Amino acid sequence: MSHRMLGAVNTAVDEFYARAGLVRHAGAMEFWEELAPRCGDSVASEVGEMLKRRARGRSAPGDVEVFCRDAERQRATIDAAAPHTHAWLGILAGIDDLHAAIDLGCGGGVASCFLAAMNPQARIIGVDVSPVAIATARDMAADLGLRNVEFVAADVDGFDAGREFDLVISSAVWAETLDWVHAERRWSALNELPHLLAPGAMHTPLAATASRHLVDDGVYLSLERCRDLAGLAGWVGAQQNVGLNFDTTISDMLTIDGVLTGPERLPLVAAHRNTLPTGAQDLVQWRLRVGDEQFDQALMAEMVMASGSGTWELLTGTLFEASEDDDDFSAALLLLRRGDAAKLYFATTRGVREVLASSPDGGAEQFRPLYRRMRDHLGRRQSVVSHRAATNDDVQVVVPRAIVGRGAG
Ligand SMILES: C[S@@+](CC[C@H](N)C(=O)[O-])C[C@H]1O[C@@H](n2cnc3c(N)ncnc32)[C@H](O)[C@@H]1O
Repeated sequence: MSHRMLGAVNTAVDEFYARAGLVRHAGAMEFWEELAPRCGDSVASEVGEMLKRRARGRSAPGDVEVFCRDAERQRATIDAAAPHTHAWLGILAGIDDLHAAIDLGCGGGVASCFLAAMNPQARIIGVDVSPVAIATARDMAADLGLRNVEFVAADVDGFDAGREFDLVISSAVWAETLDWVHAERRWSALNELPHLLAPGAMHTPLAATASRHLVDDGVYLSLERCRDLAGLAGWVGAQQNVGLNFDTTISDMLTIDGVLTGPERLPLVAAHRNTLPTGAQDLVQWRLRVGDEQFDQALMAEMVMASGSGTWELLTGTLFEASEDDDDFSAALLLLRRGDAAKLYFATTRGVREVLASSPDGGAEQFRPLYRRMRDHLGRRQSVVSHRAATNDDVQVVVPRAIVGRGAG
């Protein structure tokens, strides 16, 4: 396996979109205007309901069938259902000299068909638990006249293709099947990293199946919608537990621009056996190197709190319990001091992290009026069901700590 020149990559993706009839929309209005005439009113409302559920963080493996029940639906909804596809194919287009690849959780088969079209000499297999998605994938391959791709309806858990591949890929499979609403609640991504990356901590059948199917010098490329750096660490940790180590030199953050969801950054994880496991510090450094100010505000706030020596001491603070859209979560507003330095820090277990006020000297008292205003403002929010005074024990849990000297890194 080697790499094609970058210049050729985007053209190849656009040509494939045109050949496969995959629609790219200029914006949300155009998407909705075209969907009903193309697929019917009932499909448009089914897709609308599905997207609303997804926006609230609720997705299930069967959701894919709403978007790819047949080839026409897949063509018309790919922009909204799988907004990462164009960028993902752009990455796959760079791969040359491929012998065999397997696409785990292939959905309607777009990436598998693309790899097959780009690499006529290679054998490609797509695997998905949904027979509906697999039927659409087979139709797509037939429409494109591809003879070097096959699709298997099977659960990736325990799946055995009976052979190995130089490339394993998966996109939007691991994170999509997590229940984001009820799982993964955390006060700090940084504090979780050493635990998530510790040997033996994380397991997922997806990573195990990827590892089982990879030749010794093969690469597993995956694209996941990880909620934050801890989400990524969970995914990286699960792969490292099956011997596939995160390669910080080729992994990247991909920027995608969803027609309905706007711009977001997704980690493109390249893992293989010929590099050492990545620890917490390496992962943070990589993430900062490939970062983007616009998208990384929560991480930067955590880094600010974790920097410097000594622990933050509570001057005053409030913890709120809240509920919104059937989603229970907590929020903390903490006025903290460390020597003469002071910070007013706000965090929620839904991923918000903000340093609301900061002073290197002059003490924390100056921020008391701001703290009170914020506390009263938050306390009046409809979503808040109760609140209590914060303690120094809460500070230990809520405030990010420096990773230095905490193992796994
Ligand atoms: C969000 S879709 C992504 C599909 C495709 N990879 C893409 O990027 O468009 C997630 C896919 O993973 C499949 N999937 C989820 N759990 C699976 C499992 N245990 N075994 C096989 N496929 C699974 C679902 O059926 C669905 O097609």
